[in-house]
Amino acid sequence: MTVRIAILGPGRVGVALARRFHGAGAAVLGLLGRDPARTAAAVAAADCGRVLAWSDVARAHAVVFAVGDPDLPAAIADAVARGAHRRCALWLHTSGRHGLEVFAAAAGHGVRRGALHPVAPFADATAGAEALVGAPALLEAEPRAERLLRRLATLLGMVPIVVSAVDRTRYHAACALAANGTTALRSVVDAAFAQAGTLSADQRRAVADALMGAAVHGAGVRGAAAALSGPVRRGDAATVALHLRALAAALPDAARIHAALMQHALQLAAAEGLAADRVAAVRAVLAAAAEDR
Ligand SMILES: NC(=O)c1ccc[n+]([C@@H]2O[C@H](COP(=O)([O-])OP(=O)(O)OC[C@H]3O[C@@H](n4cnc5c(N)ncnc54)[C@H](OP(=O)(O)O)[C@@H]3O)[C@@H](O)[C@H]2O)c1
Repeated sequence: MTVRIAILGPGRVGVALARRFHGAGAAVLGLLGRDPARTAAAVAAADCGRVLAWSDVARAHAVVFAVGDPDLPAAIADAVARGAHRRCALWLHTSGRHGLEVFAAAAGHGVRRGALHPVAPFADATAGAEALVGAPALLEAEPRAERLLRRLATLLGMVPIVVSAVDRTRYHAACALAANGTTALRSVVDAAFAQAGTLSADQRRAVADALMGAAVHGAGVRGAAAALSGPVRRGDAATVALHLRALAAALPDAARIHAALMQHALQLAAAEGLAADRVAAVRAVLAAAAEDR
């Protein structure tokens, strides 16, 4: 049976999911948002379905709530108040932050409840639609919802990971650190290479891509401590001091971030057996840099 899907929230995730579901042969009824013009633009970007009314939502087998995390409880309550619930329809959200408890307003209305968190960055809908394929989808569902939820993840080209009772706030904080923290670090790295002076933009991108790609890959494969390399891993306190001074002169924020990360790197190096006197020497350099700020 072709699954009929309605999407609430005509934003980056809503549009990306609409495109992927449509491409996989699902019947995307369309999108519903708060602002008609923005919703019409999202339907055009999705290139499928139409601007929905609440009565259309009530016809869907699956209703995807792709609204921002703070808006989600009110959006669900609003959908119930508008009579958009249909017995046995699957209501799912795409939030990393919320579990199934966020569907409290729908309790007693017979809908099946699930969560499908696409573990992929959606800088915009096009990038998100590409990033979905092959990425994990963290699924949480009541038992009668799991089968359809898995099917939806598979339609999106995602790899389902089924969990229960995850601490959502901690999970979401880890997601933000992994994705947004890495993006922010890349921005600092780009600035640090730029102030070195002699590399062209292409050369800087090539060097940063190579180092960050290999570092993230190595830490994933070997574990972070075993993958660590560089002056802190060698206990080369003099070089660490030079780096911190050079960065502090040109990019004080980058120097602070660098020092905080090297503090953690030092713990990894110590765990990997760096000699105690070298650990102490690097620690002293990092402490002196902190005092200078
Ligand atoms: N972005 C990511 O990388 C990413 C990754 C995985 C999961 N997610 C999750 O996916 C969800 C959506 O994220 P997003 O990045 O797509 O956000 P977004 O681009 O800000 O889109 C959210 C959309 O929801 C609409 N909206 C808000 N309240 C509504 C309501 N009551 N009824 C209907 N529409 C409503 C907003 O409309 P207005 O234009 O009226 O504000 C906006 O179009 C969030 O839970 C987020 O945590 C995001």
